[in-house]
Amino acid sequence: MKFFIDTANIEEIKEINSWGILSGVTTNPSLIAKNGGVFEDVVEEITSIVDGPISAEVISTDLENILKEARALSKISKNIVVKIPIIEDGLKAVSILSKEGIKTNVTLVFSLSQALLAANAGATYVSPFMGRLDDIGKSGIEVVKDIQNAFLKYDYDTQIIAASIRHTSHVELVAKAGADIATIPYKIFKDMIKHDLTDKGLEKFLEDFKNVKTKGDLK
Ligand code: G3P
Repeated sequence: MKFFIDTANIEEIKEINSWGILSGVTTNPSLIAKNGGVFEDVVEEITSIVDGPISAEVISTDLENILKEARALSKISKNIVVKIPIIEDGLKAVSILSKEGIKTNVTLVFSLSQALLAANAGATYVSPFMGRLDDIGKSGIEVVKDIQNAFLKYDYDTQIIAASIRHTSHVELVAKAGADIATIPYKIFKDMIKHDLTDKGLEKFLEDFKNVKTKGDLK
């Protein structure tokens, strides 16, 4: 399973990218607003840091303007993926853009029906929102599993980006379900690397090694 980072914060992207584990970045209008700066400049800077798919979202809701925004965003870099909400004009736009070779990420997906519509329109990615489903008493992982099973059964090329991830268990659950990608907030990456037994084990190794003689190249 590939890891994307779900943020528009340049420092967070640089730090996690330096781990050598990042395949892409997803943003949304809220994350862009939280980060500040000029939208197109922030997106362009992100494309200069991570060499992989970078999702940037349209804010129009009518076909003509979704297409206008999508085409403008796609000109920023070959790695731009245009994020489009699953609404009627959004679906029409995905169909048109996919024929133009513009990659799309259909967002705000909360059901298998929505994911199937997006896949049939030619979406490159669909983003089911796990955390927000859990928030309303539904099961985010069940929706991801349903989409995964249907896409395998019908051999769709559309990839699943498990989004709205709130804790490390979400990451592990989507990996077990076989999702293609998890887009993960900065804090969750920091949680993923931590384990109390790792800290304790390392402390003991370093303590035990203190009196060992070495030839000098080692500390
Ligand atoms: O970027 C889309 C999604 O990951 C948002 O997550 O935490 O705002 O529900 P959240």
